Amino acid sequence: LASHAGIDVRINVSGRSRAVYSVGEPSITALEMQQVAATLGSGRLTQGKTVERFERELADFLEVPHVIACSSGTAALHLALVAAGIGAGDEVLVPDLTFVATANAVSYTGAKPVLVDIDPRSWEIDLNDAGKKVSGRTKAIIPVHLYGIPCDMHSMQHFAELHDLVVIEDAAEAFGTFTQGRACGTHGLCGAFSFYANKVITTGEGGAVVTHDDELASSLRFFRGQAQSPERRFWHAEIGFNYRMTDVHAAIGVAQMQRINGILDARKRVVSTYYDLLQDALKFPDFKGVTPWLMTGLLPESALFSRVEARLESHNIEVRPVFVPMHRLPMYDRPDAQFPRSSYVADNGISLPTYPTLNEEDVAYIASKIIEVLP
Ligand SMILES: Cc1ncc(COP(=O)(O)O)c(C=O)c1O
Repeated sequence: LASHAGIDVRINVSGRSRAVYSVGEPSITALEMQQVAATLGSGRLTQGKTVERFERELADFLEVPHVIACSSGTAALHLALVAAGIGAGDEVLVPDLTFVATANAVSYTGAKPVLVDIDPRSWEIDLNDAGKKVSGRTKAIIPVHLYGIPCDMHSMQHFAELHDLVVIEDAAEAFGTFTQGRACGTHGLCGAFSFYANKVITTGEGGAVVTHDDELASSLRFFRGQAQSPERRFWHAEIGFNYRMTDVHAAIGVAQMQRINGILDARKRVVSTYYDLLQDALKFPDFKGVTPWLMTGLLPESALFSRVEARLESHNIEVRPVFVPMHRLPMYDRPDAQFPRSSYVADNGISLPTYPTLNEEDVAYIASKIIEVLP
């Protein structure tokens, strides 16, 4: 198995080689390898100086004073909710169309995720529907910048003030996208990022919570490290977590941040090429100015995702359906009729290969095959 320019060259059993375009893959260079080797050589593997350096570099890039690196984006979300004081008896508004981690992180705290339908154009949580679902127990709202498309954070802040809610941004998919003068993830009380292998930047597994609030930052660090007292070793007055990132993982992140402009530009180029070539074939939400996680659009209603997927697979192109909406999962079961818009996107959505090592020829090839296989 060799990797070249975003193409895995796999030798199959019959000995023929074939190019495979996966839906997402990390961009790993000699720089990442050097940083990891240096960290391994330092003898310090657990959270230490490299995590601190990664946190500082993220803080500079995002223009936010506090970054708390975590073991995953899910851990980051859970930590953010705990530090914001969300717990049993509380309700938290979450979009129905998201990755399951958003709703699960709320459930971990003992609070109840209240599902809200999405806006049909931007696919963000719909504030009209959210307004109908606010109760006396509602404490927070989690806007999710799905696929990197930013939510309207001015309207969000207005809504939150009106109902006295805390805003915790799920920016897992939106690293590197700026909106209304700030980075996604830095508008609310706090924001959570994911650095899973296929995300905009990666540490393998990993995440971070960011905040402007000094007190909250101390609380996030406290809960990340088993809630150990900073003054007294092995003194834990509350139930904390081990959500620390290792220095080895942070080393990958440090290298990614050294290459950040190239990574973001390459992703933006992929999206604009898809836009140019596929605007008559698929219907896209507004990706302008966005650093995309996965370029995602809607198939024509006459096309069945599974058929399109199978046909593209025969051209060695991998595509993905959008997430199964929360209301269709057994834990959060609700009828489709209550979530018509997220159901529609779930039934017709398609995510396309999106990663920095795809060049224009690759994207043109993928786009031509998509046009060819549509009915
Ligand atoms: C919207 C959203 N929230 C949360 C997460 C959780 O991140 P992680 O997989 O790093 O735990 C993800 C990513 O997978 C995501 O896409």
